[in-house]
Amino acid sequence: MVFLKTDEEVELMRQSNQLLGMAYGEVAKAIAPGVTTAQLDKIAHDFICDHGGIPSCLGYEGYPATLCTSVNEQVVHGIPSKDVVLKDGDIVSVDGCVQLHGFHADSAYTFPVGEVKPEVLQLMKITKQCLYLGIEQAITGRRLGDISFAIQNHAEKAGYSVCREFVGHGIGRDMHEDPEVCNYGRRGNGIVLKSGMTLAIEPMIMMGRRNVIMEDDGWTARAADRKPAAHYELSVCVRDGKADILSTFDYIQAVLGDRFI
Ligand code: MF3
Ligand code: CO
Repeated sequence: MVFLKTDEEVELMRQSNQLLGMAYGEVAKAIAPGVTTAQLDKIAHDFICDHGGIPSCLGYEGYPATLCTSVNEQVVHGIPSKDVVLKDGDIVSVDGCVQLHGFHADSAYTFPVGEVKPEVLQLMKITKQCLYLGIEQAITGRRLGDISFAIQNHAEKAGYSVCREFVGHGIGRDMHEDPEVCNYGRRGNGIVLKSGMTLAIEPMIMMGRRNVIMEDDGWTARAADRKPAAHYELSVCVRDGKADILSTFDYIQAVLGDRFI
């Protein structure tokens, strides 16, 4: 069942997403060689709680943290740890959710740590472009497959592969609502998009082959070939002509400056 949101509900979702975006600004300030992913998790957790939000990944199906922090070949759902020390040249995908006033926010961003190889920066750039190309299709009257196709087409043209095991989703009073938003698919397929649908669009793009392996912790998905993967996510509301982007990377951009790709 797909729930259309009222304008008031969309404004509440914008507020939860703004809080998540601000938390990511704090995380961005801390990311550097020598920092652990557990430290990033604590920063996000405390910031969200201090501002009246609920870190809604924490406890979700038993998930043990506020953030997912996936390093290099880890595609998604990496668990923050004091044993994972970021080093120069790494990339770390930070993904998390906030619940505020009854509505969830969901957004993800892949950060560079120190000096990252040009080929990896390119993967990040193309993945972010995939996200915005998907969002361009999130307009009234288009179909779900138009979003999926736009993402897959851009990624594969660049020589990358699309992770298929994990997908975007509707979002609202629940973190995961219908519909599923695949990052691969055919133009013109799937349900017709309606104004007021709220979607978390989240391409996970892999430099190598698309096969993933689950690590022993039961959460972390990594590239079988151990090549890097990137992940960007924004929650949006479908509207006529142009999607309304509810999440924000603005606070990240303010911190990264010219390192913001
Ligand atoms: N933010 C994730 C998503 O995009 C949710 C991660 S699952 C959790 O759907 F268990 F970590 F919460
Ligand atoms: Co999501």
